[in-house]
Amino acid sequence: MKKNIPDDELNLAAELLQAGKLVAFPTETVYGLGANALSDSAVAAIYAAKGRPQFNPLIVHVSSIETAKNYVQWNDSAQILAEHFWPGPLTIVLPRKKDCELSLLVSAGLDCVALRMPSHPIALELLEKSGLPLAAPSANISGRISPTLAQHVREELGGKINIVLDGGACEVGIESTIVDLTSDSPSILRHGKITREDIEKYIKLGDNISDKVKAPGMLASHYAPNAKIRLDAKEIRVGEVLLAFGKMIPGAEYSQNLSDGENLEEAAANLFRMLRILDANNPAVIAVMPIPDYGLGIAINDRLRRAAAPRD
Ligand code: TXA
Ligand code: MG
Repeated sequence: MKKNIPDDELNLAAELLQAGKLVAFPTETVYGLGANALSDSAVAAIYAAKGRPQFNPLIVHVSSIETAKNYVQWNDSAQILAEHFWPGPLTIVLPRKKDCELSLLVSAGLDCVALRMPSHPIALELLEKSGLPLAAPSANISGRISPTLAQHVREELGGKINIVLDGGACEVGIESTIVDLTSDSPSILRHGKITREDIEKYIKLGDNISDKVKAPGMLASHYAPNAKIRLDAKEIRVGEVLLAFGKMIPGAEYSQNLSDGENLEEAAANLFRMLRILDANNPAVIAVMPIPDYGLGIAINDRLRRAAAPRD
């Protein structure tokens, strides 16, 4: 359910951002933990609240193509992709402009910036009311499951954030697709709702992400619940709960179904919320049924593989 935010709450959120505070807000992908991207201390507060490693740069959210052009060396590919996919779940990485006013912390030592114009009306209103570019990672503790409900943010970061704007459930449910446009051979750094095929209608892409991981935040272990994750489950073992897709395999005492009708969009929207629900039962293992590896399934499987990866 989409929820509206009263004007005075949005105004307060915009004022808090202008004062360098943290504001969690909904986007069409997941909830973001936003701060003024022009301010070192505001951006530093994001890293502190999330416990995020300093080498992992942040996406800067903007309200228009024009604003984006203030900060980066814009190019033809950026123009084409932004025209087709903004506002929406696509992030583009471009070289910083020489006189770029964004805090260096958003780039975490790199000479590029990741930019995105979200389509969620609350996110857009907040960008416009504050008049600021907003650095906003997913609003979760670093390495944990991304939030798709305001309640997830409150549970995990409540004490550390000045305000959480509740826009209801995020429609897409997994984070934006990231495309690196810093070289002549653009490539996908993170899979999302906008697929390789969608992008290749407009520009040519280089190798796949898997052998060339450049987004420093794409660590092997990520999106981690407390329970272990077992992928490609075709049967249930003792002590396991089930994350199903389509017709359920029998035997699980507790389960959630990403999509009865095997709809990948529905599965993406449910993924993080259902992982949280299953994990809240403290199972030893969450068994996950196979998800087809095409379309949005590629992004879903990417998140599940990271959730299943060995942790330190
Ligand atoms: O959908 C999304 O993108 C959400 C919403 C809130 O907009 N945000 C999000 O942010 O997923 P975060 O911080 O959880 O993931 C950002 C990813 C990280 O893997 C980071 O390493 C990568 O983007 N990234 C950010 N800036 C980059 C840069 N300059 N170059 C390469 N990768 C970058
Ligand atoms: Mg994240």
